Amino acid sequence: MTNNNLVELRSFFAGKKYYVRTYGCQLNENDSEKISGILDEQGMTNTDNINAASVIVFNTCTIRENANDKIFGNLGIVKGIKRKSPDVIVILCGCMMKEEHNVTKVKSKYKFVDLIFGPSDIYKLPALLFNRMNEGGLICGIGDEDLIIEDLPVTHKKKFRALSTIIYGCNNFCSYCIVPYVRGRERSRAPEDVLKELKMLGDQGFKEVMLLGQNVNSYGKDFDSYDFADLLSDASKIDAISRIRFMTSHPKDTDRKLLDVMANGGNIMPHLHLPMQSGSDRVLALMNRKYSAGQYLDIVEYARKVIPDISITTDIIVGFPGEKEEDFSETLSLMERIRFDNAFTFMFSPRKGTPAADMDDQIPDDVMRERFSRLVKLQNKCTLESGMKTLNTVQTVLVEGLSQNSDKVYAGRTPHNRLVNFTCDKAIEEGDIVDVDITSVKTFSLNGRFLSFNSGNGG
Ligand code: SAH
Ligand code: SF4
Ligand code: F3S
Repeated sequence: MTNNNLVELRSFFAGKKYYVRTYGCQLNENDSEKISGILDEQGMTNTDNINAASVIVFNTCTIRENANDKIFGNLGIVKGIKRKSPDVIVILCGCMMKEEHNVTKVKSKYKFVDLIFGPSDIYKLPALLFNRMNEGGLICGIGDEDLIIEDLPVTHKKKFRALSTIIYGCNNFCSYCIVPYVRGRERSRAPEDVLKELKMLGDQGFKEVMLLGQNVNSYGKDFDSYDFADLLSDASKIDAISRIRFMTSHPKDTDRKLLDVMANGGNIMPHLHLPMQSGSDRVLALMNRKYSAGQYLDIVEYARKVIPDISITTDIIVGFPGEKEEDFSETLSLMERIRFDNAFTFMFSPRKGTPAADMDDQIPDDVMRERFSRLVKLQNKCTLESGMKTLNTVQTVLVEGLSQNSDKVYAGRTPHNRLVNFTCDKAIEEGDIVDVDITSVKTFSLNGRFLSFNSGNGG
């Protein structure tokens, strides 16, 4: 765009409000922060009130069918808004826009949408908005190139934690998963760019940084000799950052080198999110996960050897095509043995174009639901058991703000990523690091009371 166009764009949008709704994972959250950054740069301001917005953005997810259903449902609300205020600009972006059948559906049934683009097209937003100012009809910014665009403006949504995507895309093609089709091939950002960003985030006062990628362990595979463990090790030397977290780790690439770097502690938090998906070798092979249950267990055992109190969380899919009762009970018994600190459990959802969607022997809903409830019951027991380890201990908590339930109760997280609600009559703020005495334990949170401010990270 020319400078004149940019001036024209800014004068059109300055002072107007935008609303962004984000679906899906933290990569999408980070993308939305870039979209907000671009809109802020035009002089716009964010609003949480969709009815007050001149620009409405839905950043979409398509990981499971219920994500799609929710988004198309909520678009109904936008239709009403657009009928009353035809000048409102409606933007649909994110992963769903990289699936042709969704684009077709938008074109035929959601004609009020003004602008669509995919996850790799965010940098085009100013040019697309400029086109929208001057043209009617649907503006499409969906491209096929997998680029790395540095230095986009970012408006961080949270004060206590900054997100930083270090690797884009995914090459793994797990047979159930849509991500490689909608996010393109793996691209690692240059280490110097990542480290420069992290230093800046530390200097800006962010206490916690979350390094993101669909498979962070693939970071650096496109370089000669610098991998994720190297990056983590370099990042841990940035003193201004008290807490470093990362996700997601793929078991096939989670090596001892990475766990040894984590074992050095410091500002690297003792938490590993390591999706297992299934405990059956047969199902893992059908899923194209490229590890066995035994190999998974080896990683867990090594992690617990070098970081004895590490918290390990996981993702499990129930009802993958062909999953027999024996397969499922292998999942249960591996979970019983490992005792995860927490787990996200999902019922298999067929994604158009992925191999698993066309596999024989799709599992009926009732069987899936019944297995799901057994799994959740076991995991809730393990999650509570894991929380109980903190009872009557002092935990160092990074304050995330007031608790949803009360204005005198604050919420925050321990180094192991456990949620704590605690009482405090001192004036504390989002981003403070405090010591909390844990007085009782519930399945999904701990309760406690404020003891004192803490100057370290408690890792
Ligand atoms: N990159 C990460 C996961 C990304 S998606 C990894 O490799 O583990 C987050 C979780 O959603 C996955 O771990 C998986 O458990 C679940 N998931 C992905 N596709 C799914 C599908 N089609 N049906 C049900 N769950 C799915
Ligand atoms: Fe999907 Fe597998 Fe890639 Fe994770 S590693 S995003 S589950 S294809
Ligand atoms: Fe969803 Fe895309 Fe993330 S499909 S889970 S928003 S990568």
